[in-house]
Amino acid sequence: MGKPVVLREGVAEDWAKFRDLIAVSAGAATWADGYPSLVAEIDNQLAGFALYRVIAGEGELLNLAVHPSARRSGVGRALLQQMMQLAELWHLEVRESNMAAIGLYRSLGFVQVGRRSAYYADGEAAILFSAEGLSPK
Ligand SMILES: CC(C)(COP(=O)(O)OP(=O)(O)OC[C@H]1O[C@@H](n2cnc3c(N)ncnc32)[C@H](O)[C@@H]1OP(=O)(O)O)[C@@H](O)C(=O)NCCC(=O)NCCS
Repeated sequence: MGKPVVLREGVAEDWAKFRDLIAVSAGAATWADGYPSLVAEIDNQLAGFALYRVIAGEGELLNLAVHPSARRSGVGRALLQQMMQLAELWHLEVRESNMAAIGLYRSLGFVQVGRRSAYYADGEAAILFSAEGLSPK
């Protein structure tokens, strides 16, 4: 059995570690600070984070990254399940080639609502996804 994953709200002192994790997470966005976040820790070490904002009841996922050593063990899903309790409707954009993230989002009920060609600086398209929020447990 894997070690327990502890979720908590992020604080400004976490932001430098978010940047370190983004640096080893191809596919992550560059947002690292200035917005609310959720942190996942294993053995008191940063395993992943989600950065988001909620405006007028609608949430937007701004960034999500899980440490390479902790991937595929449910950390990303746990972060999003917690975050999705904080608003009734969620939106996000993701690189069209990012099959890991797209698989995760679809598994949580996100459906494609749009596509922006050449959205990223390297010319890749963004897929826009939306999902209803989750009820608090
Ligand atoms: C995308 C990312 C956050 C997923 O985090 P994770 O903790 O590994 O995801 P989980 O273990 O919670 O996976 C949940 C589901 O997502 C899908 N998934 C996750 N990784 C996958 C992969 N490499 N290939 C295909 N599906 C994948 C699966 O459906 C998986 O469920 P399963 O393991 O029961 O099959 C992680 O791969 C990451 O940090 N990538 C780099 C940064 C990034 O791309 N961020 C997204 C920005 S939009």
